[in-house]
Amino acid sequence: MSGIRNVAILGASGNFGTPITAALIAANFNVTIITRTSSTMAHPPGIPTLRIDYTLGALTQAFTNQDAVVCVVGPGGISLQKTFIDAAASAGVERFIIDDFGWGPTPNGFSEFSAIHASRKEGWDYAAAKAKEVDGLTWSGLSTGNPIDWAMKKFPMMGFDVQTHKAIIYDQGTERFTGTTLEGIGQAVVGTLKNPEATANRFLAVQSIQTCQSELLKALQKATGTQWEVTRTTSKELIESGKEDFKTGAGLWRLKLAVATLYDVGQGRGKVAVSREESDAELLGLKAETADEIVAKLLQ
Ligand SMILES: NC(=O)c1ccc[n+]([C@@H]2O[C@H](COP(=O)([O-])OP(=O)(O)OC[C@H]3O[C@@H](n4cnc5c(N)ncnc54)[C@H](OP(=O)(O)O)[C@@H]3O)[C@@H](O)[C@H]2O)c1
Repeated sequence: MSGIRNVAILGASGNFGTPITAALIAANFNVTIITRTSSTMAHPPGIPTLRIDYTLGALTQAFTNQDAVVCVVGPGGISLQKTFIDAAASAGVERFIIDDFGWGPTPNGFSEFSAIHASRKEGWDYAAAKAKEVDGLTWSGLSTGNPIDWAMKKFPMMGFDVQTHKAIIYDQGTERFTGTTLEGIGQAVVGTLKNPEATANRFLAVQSIQTCQSELLKALQKATGTQWEVTRTTSKELIESGKEDFKTGAGLWRLKLAVATLYDVGQGRGKVAVSREESDAELLGLKAETADEIVAKLLQ
């Protein structure tokens, strides 16, 4: 496989697309942003940007001369993955990075996520089948688990309210989970494209930290110099509440069960790998991060 230089990205201005695009630019790839004609997102200036309708013909033209395509569109665009892959195959793209950035092909999550998982997996299976059929086309999937610095800030249900110095600790706060910071997610894409042989046609387990709530709380108290007000609850209550919301169609079931994936006692649901050594962190060039470093990012 030749060296990958030209990289197109779909979803460049999203939660994860933004740090991925920044990492690709910093690593000197020639980046082209592909965006929908209907997009209302602001895209970073100075990067070639193609605003197109997502038809097979327009996408094929947009992907021509690209060595790789990174697919990081939001959940609304997941069903378009097959069209993206067909276009990549027709345009002669070498590597298609599928839209995982979650828990990979065999998540140890709750059954309520089955339908969402199946719709995502359809695109991933299609990429694998297409790569077998089309000479030169390969794929990679990055299972990044919990996007820890982003998620802790965005979702107080994860247990930490940085503004009020209040914490919700589930059970003993000792259930361990893996996370990857936004910086780590960007590095995972760069590391994949810099190691095309070792990363071809497979999912990669990505993590920059393995931690638990107690460690994070300790780091937060140290960094803020205050004793946080702690409320205790159980993962069992959160799971029951999430499952009940799922049955009634209430909006928060996804968030509740996503958080419970991290904290369900003794289940190890929130790990993409049992240890850093068994993950692909070294191959992808991800630095190991400590709870103190995560907290420093959070408080920035
Ligand atoms: N592991 C986790 O906990 C976790 C958390 C969040 C996200 N994720 C995953 O990470 C990936 C990216 O998510 P994100 O939160 O970064 O996405 P996002 O910010 O919601 O959206 C990113 C971009 O996707 C494009 N897009 C959105 N809807 C689309 C549609 N209907 N058709 C085509 N394109 C569309 C848009 O780009 P343009 O406007 O430029 O066209 C948008 O800016 C997804 O697979 C998501 O499930 C995982």
